[in-house]
Amino acid sequence: MDVEIADLSEAVLEHLPDWSSHGSARDAGCRFCLYWEEPDRAKWPEPLHEREALKREWVRRVTAEFGVCGKLAFVGSKAVGYSQFSPPAHLPNVTSYECGPPSSDAVFVACLFVVREHRGHGVGSALLRAVVAELSSRGVEAVETLARRGSADNPSGPLGFWLKHNFTVVREDDEFALVRQEFA
Ligand SMILES: CC(C)(COP(=O)(O)OP(=O)(O)OC[C@H]1O[C@@H](n2cnc3c(N)ncnc32)[C@H](O)[C@@H]1OP(=O)(O)O)[C@@H](O)C(=O)NCCC(=O)NCCS
Repeated sequence: MDVEIADLSEAVLEHLPDWSSHGSARDAGCRFCLYWEEPDRAKWPEPLHEREALKREWVRRVTAEFGVCGKLAFVGSKAVGYSQFSPPAHLPNVTSYECGPPSSDAVFVACLFVVREHRGHGVGSALLRAVVAELSSRGVEAVETLARRGSADNPSGPLGFWLKHNFTVVREDDEFALVRQEFA
């Protein structure tokens, strides 16, 4: 499968994957998701245009302060995968995890998502390679995420995926693990 990776910017925000094939009435798609950015707005539904405006503002601010903070995976003209990352200070919900928070020297991968019908064909791995290449070339010390044990139902997916990609466990609890990859 030919996968093309693009940087996140305000211009491509409308292409972020939607969740319509995932069977959840409350979920509309990555461009409306404020799980990490605005923990007090976790309750759906809210007017989607308000959520999108907040997401857009987050992307604008973090891109200006930090640089590129996400990647999209396209198959043809459709974005089938998305990953978002930034210093943890831009993602207040990281403090709500028992095995967190992420280290202050690391960039936190908030989500890694591939639409269901495109999973298992290397899209997630291609996205993660692009994220790691981007961050290591920018002089970042390390990258971390909160992976879920025994379940893929998690913003960045299951622990097994991250361990296969050379991440190691920093701290863990019964459900989640903070995992890290250091750049030499
Ligand atoms: C995790 C995820 C991104 C992986 O994407 P993908 O495109 O299916 O990944 P790949 O095809 O590149 O697979 C990479 C490897 O990880 C492995 N893998 C995938 N899920 C795994 C799991 N639950 N446990 C162990 N390994 C797993 C695959 O077997 C594959 O290994 P292999 O190359 O040795 O065969 C995808 O499954 C996903 O989006 N999950 C849901 C995450 C989610 O809900 N995010 C919410 C956002 S709000």
